[in-house]
Amino acid sequence: MSVNRRDLLRGAATAGALGLAWPLSSRMTVAQAEEAAAALGATWDEAPFTLGVASGDPVPYGVALWTRLAPKPMEFEQPLEDTVEVGWEVAADRGFRRRVARGTAAATAALGHSVHVPVSGLEPGSQYYYRFHALGKVSRVGRTRTAPVGPVRRVRFASANCQAFHDGFYAAHAGIAREELDFVVHLGDYVYEHGQVGGNPLRDHEGPEVLTLPSYRRRHALYKSDPSLRDAHAAHPWFITWDDHEVVNDYSGTTPALQARRSAAYQAWYEHMPVRPDHPSTPRIHRQRRWGDLLDLSILDLRQYRSAQNLPDGTILGADQKAWLKDQVTGAGEAWHCWVNSIMLSQLAKPGGGGYMFTDQWDGFLAERKEVLTHVAQSGLEDLVVITGDWHSAFVDDIRPDFADPASPVIGTEFTAHSVSSGAYSPEWNATNGPKMGAANPHLKYFEGDRYGYDVYEVTPRRWSTHMRVIGDRRDPRSPVSTLTTFHVDRGRPGSYEDRATISSPAQYRRR
Ligand SMILES: [Fe+2]
Repeated sequence: MSVNRRDLLRGAATAGALGLAWPLSSRMTVAQAEEAAAALGATWDEAPFTLGVASGDPVPYGVALWTRLAPKPMEFEQPLEDTVEVGWEVAADRGFRRRVARGTAAATAALGHSVHVPVSGLEPGSQYYYRFHALGKVSRVGRTRTAPVGPVRRVRFASANCQAFHDGFYAAHAGIAREELDFVVHLGDYVYEHGQVGGNPLRDHEGPEVLTLPSYRRRHALYKSDPSLRDAHAAHPWFITWDDHEVVNDYSGTTPALQARRSAAYQAWYEHMPVRPDHPSTPRIHRQRRWGDLLDLSILDLRQYRSAQNLPDGTILGADQKAWLKDQVTGAGEAWHCWVNSIMLSQLAKPGGGGYMFTDQWDGFLAERKEVLTHVAQSGLEDLVVITGDWHSAFVDDIRPDFADPASPVIGTEFTAHSVSSGAYSPEWNATNGPKMGAANPHLKYFEGDRYGYDVYEVTPRRWSTHMRVIGDRRDPRSPVSTLTTFHVDRGRPGSYEDRATISSPAQYRRR
């Protein structure tokens, strides 16, 4: 491998020369930005479909298709007419001989020439292929799938989170692209509004343009220059939520200063995600999706409606979403119930006492967490599994309505996944603090912070299995993927257990 973007950027940061290496630097012309991106290994699909294709939000009779025309991804303004007609087609076969749907959509400059096509009239539980046409060119072919209805014996899906471009290559997404999956879930920190490379903040070299829509667009475009990310989108339909870095670190609320920036960031996110047509600057993310009678997903938005943290009456969900989530719990049927949760739900008390490690997560919203989890316990909901990102390390936790009370019943399991590339703590920090976090948190069963990757969930009526897939080295785009360990939850038996075959795998903490 001749190019390694992590070491290249770290070297430039150490030399005080990030402005010469970081493609989004305000000091660069477009030609220099393109050159800098290429030096970091950026590649693009053939124009105008440089950013690839994607599908998302599969339901039984439809799915959303996405692309964005960006002939010059590093330009602030694309060299395109104000409105460009984009053709789309869906077929049952990769050769498009059995075409089942087709149409056109207008890609407009107002929405960055993105298109979001809500395809309907498809068959449940079926695989499809799709592609786009525009300006005499045809896009790559994407593969997608609709949700099944009725009895389902197995679902396999993956989650990804935290993919700082400057921290490494997306070998994890290459792994996801190769997996046999029904769908993918993204748990947030899809892009980072800034970066920290070798201790130097990239933002200092960029100027204020990161606050604006064109600058957020360029950031998304740069992230999609990693071919493994485009491959993972083209291989499977995705459900997507977000965390803070799609806008700015640890944000909450809507102060006037934040409002304009948030709107720009939300719109750029919308323009680059395979979601249904929506209001670009206030998209509705939270929703319930079903995979037959086997799995109910409650996809949460823990950013858009939250108050500030550490308030007695603070909210992470917002009143409407909280009422909605409680309704999902009350009305839950026999399926596994999974919360797609960007940021850690379980308590993480500081070793040695004195509060919590981070109160940007649910630990900053104690009353609401207790209210919602007490509702879960009282409703008799069984088989709650929460899947989480954000932490850049893997955790497995028992969920209790009152984490401070060991007599409080176990009502579910939280799996927090490794990051795709975003930097974790050092091996020294993990070795020292893993056991301390375990001692301070009786519900914590497992911690591993030295690796990068993604989780694969394999769910049957009787058992939920979480396979922690890890890559060898995020500096290598072709780094091989292996399974670090597997945890199971048996239906009707609260709590998880580790697979015997991998119980001796490396970790910094295990409750024995
Ligand atoms: Fe992150």
